[in-house]
Amino acid sequence: MPSDLVSILRTAKSAAYSGGHVLHRYWHEGVELRDKSDIGGKSYDLVSDADLESQSVIANLITEKFPDHELMGEEDLVGDTGAEHLWVIDPLDGTNNFLHHVPHFAVSIAYYRDGIPTVGVVHNPISGDTYAAVRGEGASHNGDPIGTSAATELSTALIGCGFYYDRGAMMRSTLAAIEDFFGHHIHGIRRFGTAALDLCAVANGMFGAFFEYKLSPWDFAAGQLIVTEAGGKISDAQGNPLGLEPSSVLASCPGLYDAALAITSKHHPA
Ligand code: IPD
Ligand code: CA
Ligand code: CA
Repeated sequence: MPSDLVSILRTAKSAAYSGGHVLHRYWHEGVELRDKSDIGGKSYDLVSDADLESQSVIANLITEKFPDHELMGEEDLVGDTGAEHLWVIDPLDGTNNFLHHVPHFAVSIAYYRDGIPTVGVVHNPISGDTYAAVRGEGASHNGDPIGTSAATELSTALIGCGFYYDRGAMMRSTLAAIEDFFGHHIHGIRRFGTAALDLCAVANGMFGAFFEYKLSPWDFAAGQLIVTEAGGKISDAQGNPLGLEPSSVLASCPGLYDAALAITSKHHPA
């Protein structure tokens, strides 16, 4: 691996572990939640001091090492998406799990070079699971190589999904797609509550495929590289390439991609 990427991977991992330490501390001490948005009179999009402090620790660590790199992060960190060196950060993916004491959440950190996902790290500080990938170098789980499922029939697969905060048309589209997947006799549907780890579940072969009708770039930035480096496919849920904009997402092992895409595109919200 080129030495500059070794150094970027090392920084991405140590930033993910540092953010993870912050989350671990708040996990044990407890934290107050705040509402980030108000949808239909009720708030579902939550934020806490844990999200904010995790992001600030991660951002400081990256900036110390690479002062001229741009940073984009969920908590109001607006980077220049056209920059040669761009980091895309979700300091706590799975805030809802975190706040309800479900031990399934992650720090997600990606590095893009000239707009191309080049390094990705997703770390669950409670379980200690760390997924990583470097473009052209494969994907790993706690240092061991991983690969996507060999499934070729939906009827042999577990499918992951996510619900955006919208409880209207987008929720109904998701439910219709789930029903359609069930009609193809899948083994089951899972909604684990963190898109970054859902993508890693496709990468390591647990999920045959995963879809969600709206995600932000920090939700999928690291996971998309981990999926492709594990041999999987990823696009929006209509088959278009992902960029750095909010988007629907479909990730799949190669043998299920076309069948999953037929379902997710059929029910895609307008
Ligand atoms: C959320 C999680 C969740 C997904 C939501 C995301 P957050 O991220 O990834 O699984 O369904 O769409 O917004 O808000 O916990 O960082
Ligand atoms: Ca997220
Ligand atoms: Ca988040």
